[in-house]
Formats: sequence, structure tokens, C-alpha cells
Amino acid sequence: MRSAEVLACETFSLSICDIAADKSISHRCAMFSMLAEGESQITNFLRAEDTMNTLEIVKNLGAIVEDDGSVIKIRSQGIQESSEILDCGNSGTGMRLFCGLLSSANGHFILSGDKYLRRRPMKRVTAPLRSIGAKLDGRKDGDLAPLSIRGASLKAFNYESKIASAQVKSAMILAALRADGECRFSEPELSRDHTERMLKGMGAEIEVDGLTTIIQPMKSLLTPLNIRVPADPSSAFFFAVAAAITPGANVTLEGVTLNKTRIEAFKALERMGAKITYTTLEDKYEPIGNIRVEHAPLNAITVEENISWLIDELPALSIAFACAKGRSVIKNAHELRVKESDRISTVVNGLRACGIEVEEYEDGYSVVGGDLHKGKIDSHGDHRIAMSFLIAGLRCGMEVDDVECINTSFPNFFALLEKITTLKLEQ
Ligand code: S3P
Repeated sequence: MRSAEVLACETFSLSICDIAADKSISHRCAMFSMLAEGESQITNFLRAEDTMNTLEIVKNLGAIVEDDGSVIKIRSQGIQESSEILDCGNSGTGMRLFCGLLSSANGHFILSGDKYLRRRPMKRVTAPLRSIGAKLDGRKDGDLAPLSIRGASLKAFNYESKIASAQVKSAMILAALRADGECRFSEPELSRDHTERMLKGMGAEIEVDGLTTIIQPMKSLLTPLNIRVPADPSSAFFFAVAAAITPGANVTLEGVTLNKTRIEAFKALERMGAKITYTTLEDKYEPIGNIRVEHAPLNAITVEENISWLIDELPALSIAFACAKGRSVIKNAHELRVKESDRISTVVNGLRACGIEVEEYEDGYSVVGGDLHKGKIDSHGDHRIAMSFLIAGLRCGMEVDDVECINTSFPNFFALLEKITTLKLEQ
């Protein structure tokens, strides 16, 4: 259980070209290669615990994986039964998407993960998958991992999801690719759309009509991926907040996906007063470019719409709230309760420990900007909580316990933070 202490920083001007690669896209690269005929080539795959676990699972399912340290090549041999327990580690995305992918595969599979993942709700995917014929089970009637899956024939469906979740949508799209007819999936708000974009790019017949995705079953295997994974906006956002809360500072975040379902937190920071510019440099599966963030005095805002577009960034955005003038409010964010930790409670308790006035709601919280004080924060094993409070420490110094979890998504976070401030790491 390593702890970290950061000291308050001076102002800085920085360009970062090595923000961690996108986690959502990296998981999908490894998994979707299993559906292709021929070799997929992936550059800048995220080498963090979550996505390396997914790559290991893909190997266990029979794919041939070559990795020269730069490009990862994946050649599927069809999904094969494995004698291994498929270990998703800390990753909800890994576990939920594999449920969709394996529901129709030949064989029996066990998915498990770390103690945090084994507490997170899986019924959101196991229930709709069961309703189309999938044979999935787990503790609490299929809600908790370890999960067992016996591949089965899947029926065509028209499913209306009550939550805007890209993980649920992706699991159902993966199942639809092997169902026995045209399938429709609707969601209440558009969630991130990498699955649709990437599978379409691989030749799958997928149409998006507003909030409904229409999927035709695969007639043949798909075209392999040839992709460079962009930087992850949710990782980049920690340094956006760092610049926004530090007088005189600016940062340029290079090669980030500018997909509109992923950069809503930057838009929120802009609404608070930070100066932000976006430069698109390419557009293949996704628009990709640079984001420049410059400090300006911040004002409070309310965030209550398009929550799924900034759900992962809310802990870091809350640090900006604590440094802004007035009371900021987050509503309709009930999903925060079932992330890597209960992020409503971990953010609220963390900010209180730093002397900030916070009110907790069932579906969010409000934060009154004020003087942040140095506190001692427990990450509860949640990478985004650990990184958010280390960024808060740029203002006032901070101690954070249990920071190993940062390796699940952003292994070079400390190296980048050290460009801005002094850091002490303890075993
Ligand atoms: C993800 C979707 C989001 C997000 C998670 C990654 C994905 O979860 O919070 O970090 O890659 O599909 P939900 O789909 O459950 O909202």
C-alpha cells in the first residue's frame, strides 16, 4: 500500500506528448481483434494493468499476440475455450464487454477480477444478455463476479436500456453480431460510441439512428484493425485541472481523442472560465488533436446533463469546483456510486478532509469553493480518486494513501506530475 505526498507547485507551462493511451479504445482493440480475419495492428496500446489484463485474456482465448514493445499484433484463431480463469483485474469495462463477446462463443468461461470488481454490479449486462438466451451466472443471481458463461445461441432483440452506459451498449452490440436477426439497442442519452465507430470501421453493419443502434449479425469475419490509439481525455483531464487551478499556468495535451462523448469535462472547465482551445489534427476512427488549457479565475457551475460524457472526470472536476468562486452542483450522477469506488462518498469525504464545504445527495453533491488545505486521503483503491487529490495537492500539498491503483490506467502519471512539483513516494 504505497502512499504519495505532493508539495504545492509554482506556476508551469508544459506540453505533454505522452498522456496514457485511451483505456476504452485499447480494451476494444484487443477484444474486437478476436472478431477479425487476419492480423490487427495496434500502436500506442495502453500498457496499464486493466488493458494488459484484457490482452492476457485475449491470449487465453487462443489469439496469437506479438508485441515488439511498440506495435501489438493480434491474430485471432476463433474464440477458444480456456482452462484459465479470465482475470479482468479492476476493470468493469473488461468484464462487461467480455460477457457480450463470450455469450455466443463455443465453450465455458469464467470471468473474475480483484476484490473491488467482485463487488460491482454485473446484472446490467447479465440480465439483458440472459433475456436473449445467454447462459450467464454468478453470485446474487448473476449480479456479482466470478461469472460463468456457457456460450449459447442468441435471439434477435429490441432492447431499451434504462441507463446510458457504453459498457451495456457494447456488450449488447457484441452479442448482436452473433444473434439470429437484426437487433436494436436504445439508450436514454448517447453514451461513448467507440464500439460503434470501431466495429463499423472493421466492416460490421451497424447504423446509428439518434439514440438507437441497429446491428445486423456478422455474415463473415471482420476486417482487422489498423489503429494508433489516441491519448485518453480522462487521463489528460488531470493535467487540464492542474493548469486551470494554478495561477499563470498552461498545458498542451497532445494527441487526445476529441470525440464529443469524451471531452465534455473540458467543456465544463471552459464554462467555469478556463481558457481552452481544441485543434483537430486527424480523423480516422475518431477525431484526434491537441487541447490547450490556460488558467483563469474559475466560477461555480451546475452539471446535470450528458453525465455519461464526463462521468470519469467528475472527481477531477470536483477539485476545480473546490478552487472556484461559489457553489458548484452535480446532479443525475447516480452512476458515480458504482464506479471503482462509490465516488460520491469518496469525493465528498476527501474534500471535507481538505476543509471544503460539501453537501452529499443520492445522485451527486455540491461543493463550495474555498481554501483547500492539505489532507490525508484514502483512495479506496480507486485510481481516479488518487490522481484527483494528488492534483489538488498542487495548491496546498497533499498525502494520498494506496496509490498503486494508478497503474490500472496511467502508469506514467507520477513521472508527469514530477515535471510540475516535488513528489515523495513511500512503500
Ligand atoms: C467505459 C464506459 C463508462 C466509463 C468507463 C469506461 C467504456 O462506463 O465510466 O470508465 O469503455 O465503455 P459506463 O458505460 O458503465 O457508464
